[in-house]
Amino acid sequence: MNNNKKFVLLARSVGKGAMGSVFEGRDPKNGNIVALKRCDGQEDKRGKVEAQNLEKIRSKNIVRFLGYGYHESHLYIAMDLVVGEDYESFLNKLKSPLTWMEASKDMRQVMQGMKAVHSLGIIHRDLKPANLMRKQNGDMVVVDFGTSKQVNAVSAACATMVGEFVGTPVYASPEQHKRAALTAACDVFSIGVIFVEALTKKLPFL
Ligand SMILES: Nc1ncnc2c1ncn2[C@@H]1O[C@H](COP(=O)(O)OP(=O)(O)OP(=O)(O)O)[C@@H](O)[C@H]1O
Ligand SMILES: [Mg+2]
Repeated sequence: MNNNKKFVLLARSVGKGAMGSVFEGRDPKNGNIVALKRCDGQEDKRGKVEAQNLEKIRSKNIVRFLGYGYHESHLYIAMDLVVGEDYESFLNKLKSPLTWMEASKDMRQVMQGMKAVHSLGIIHRDLKPANLMRKQNGDMVVVDFGTSKQVNAVSAACATMVGEFVGTPVYASPEQHKRAALTAACDVFSIGVIFVEALTKKLPFL
């Protein structure tokens, strides 16, 4: 892993989730503005797994990993700063649902990105509009690999362990709710839920 790469933390917050806060940062080597996700408290171990998984993925539809390091005992993950808005805010602002053409254009890109993820044997387990970014040019980028898991080196077809619930209930697959074995199918299910939401502005399983 690209350990302890130095980035300068800037004050501006670009997003906040349950497990971390995302700030702007600067790469002193080239002056580029980047995103720095602070993995809070006991989520440190999870943050390392997030960094490890993200580092392996190369797709224009998956946020690009730049490195990680520590600042004041917090683990930070450096990524490309995605300029645009999260898909949840984008959908909330719409007065009417997206057309079939519009929604499929967005979801096709998410599927392209996830195809690259699944081909490495990694599953995301928490695909939802808040974990998708829509760039100003309409390009879609999947973020937040904080719940991701390496399940199989060749394909994500092999099941994960059974146990604790991971995900967001309204987007999660039946097997996640049952705390059963998970495969890449759980991500495909969540993309289906997001697709329905984009087409109807309603959640199918609420
Ligand atoms: N690379 C990025 N560029 C721009 N904004 C980002 C980037 N990564 C994340 N964000 C924004 O920050 C928010 C929180 O990031 P993220 O989802 O990774 O945190 P989290 O705490 O793991 O979330 P969750 O609540 O899903 O567990 C995202 O919803 C998104 O709006
Ligand atoms: Mg998130």
